[in-house]
Amino acid sequence: MDDGPDLSNNPYGSAVNIFADESVLKEDWQPAELPERASELEEIRNSLAPATRGVNAHNLFLYGKTGQGKTVAIDHELDLLAEYATSTDDLELSVVKTSANNQSTSYQLAGHLIKEIRGSGPKPSGIDQQSMFDLLYEELHDLNETIIIVIDEIDSIGSNDDLLYELPRARKNGHLEDQWISVIGISNDLEFRDNLSPKVKDSLYDNEIEFAPYDATQLTSILERRADRAFYDGVLAEDVIPLCAAFAAQDEGSARQAIRLLYKAGELALNNEQDSVAEVHVREARDILERKRIEEGMRSLTNQDQLALLSVVALEVAGETPTRTRYVYQKYKSIADRLDTNQLVERRVRDHLQSLGMQGFLIAESRNRGIQGGNHYRFELKTDLETTLDILREDNRLHDLVADLSAAVNHSQ
Ligand SMILES: Nc1ncnc2c1ncn2[C@@H]1O[C@H](COP(=O)(O)OP(=O)(O)O)[C@@H](O)[C@H]1O
Ligand SMILES: [Mg+2]
Repeated sequence: MDDGPDLSNNPYGSAVNIFADESVLKEDWQPAELPERASELEEIRNSLAPATRGVNAHNLFLYGKTGQGKTVAIDHELDLLAEYATSTDDLELSVVKTSANNQSTSYQLAGHLIKEIRGSGPKPSGIDQQSMFDLLYEELHDLNETIIIVIDEIDSIGSNDDLLYELPRARKNGHLEDQWISVIGISNDLEFRDNLSPKVKDSLYDNEIEFAPYDATQLTSILERRADRAFYDGVLAEDVIPLCAAFAAQDEGSARQAIRLLYKAGELALNNEQDSVAEVHVREARDILERKRIEEGMRSLTNQDQLALLSVVALEVAGETPTRTRYVYQKYKSIADRLDTNQLVERRVRDHLQSLGMQGFLIAESRNRGIQGGNHYRFELKTDLETTLDILREDNRLHDLVADLSAAVNHSQ
């Protein structure tokens, strides 16, 4: 038999075995079990169950921070419902799953749903909103008797939420005749729910389910189940999984983040030709992922966002955080002077600081002002200081300024 070319010197041949099944660590791998979400799954099931009894499923709203298993939980239950539907004549089911990501109006979302249902072709456009909704009803008309529409990242559409009011009432309002329709909305933005118009809340919220952040124990068991399949036996040092779980729990309790850490740690061991994964790999993985997260976020910052961030960084270096808008603003003015850029008024800078808080760069803590009424904010850096300085320094315009700040950090150590 031909042995093929000699690969002993080929750089792709690895001397060590770490992953038994690497695909288990990928984002889209679907776990068979979600025991940490047993009660949420049961609530979802109870909401969907009316569909099996010849009426429409309840509308449902899921919310919680990113990485809490919302999407995977819905997929899990809808798969089971679809499996049931194929086994019986009592349920003719159509599920339409979509993400509202980048669809910032009801009009866009309706067009997006039409495209999704058609499965191909362009997104319709150039008609008025009611015609767009009518077109959507025509498409829905051709689906099965029971229709469930899942709108993930539903918060993208903000307050332009007519469709969310209309869809659940399509039958009541005569747009659909003998079909049952229900809507499942999923949101990572906890405030979206409070800002919806009352009529939408009424129409959409038969049931709502909160997905609270995972704690370290839950993250540990989620990781253990994956690791059993993903890694060869004995490859992981004992403290690797607890450390990944602890890092993710300290941050936002995201299973996605915990899994990414574990995967990256495994890859680092493999790329260094080490035959086991150790704590150092997890720490290095955390630094790499954190850096990537900051870099990605930084790319989308406006100039004024950057100046506001830099002002907080400067105060952080001086050990003066958390601090109030007024003091950040003083720093902001001196930095804007030095860089010779235009200056915003204090109120606008505060808006930028709050936006940096939403984007995960700053911790923005709101304090009650007591007798004066109203709130004031105190800001501090959320991202790692050294890494943030490193990344900011790569911007030519900021280089000298950041170099001075870095010197101050080194001086104080
Ligand atoms: N309880 C769990 N058990 C196993 N894997 C989980 C669990 N919760 C979340 N995951 C995994 O974590 C990742 C993020 O979950 P996802 O459902 O996308 O979160 P969300 O929609 O809340 O942002 C996915 O890879 C998912 O499979
Ligand atoms: Mg999701």
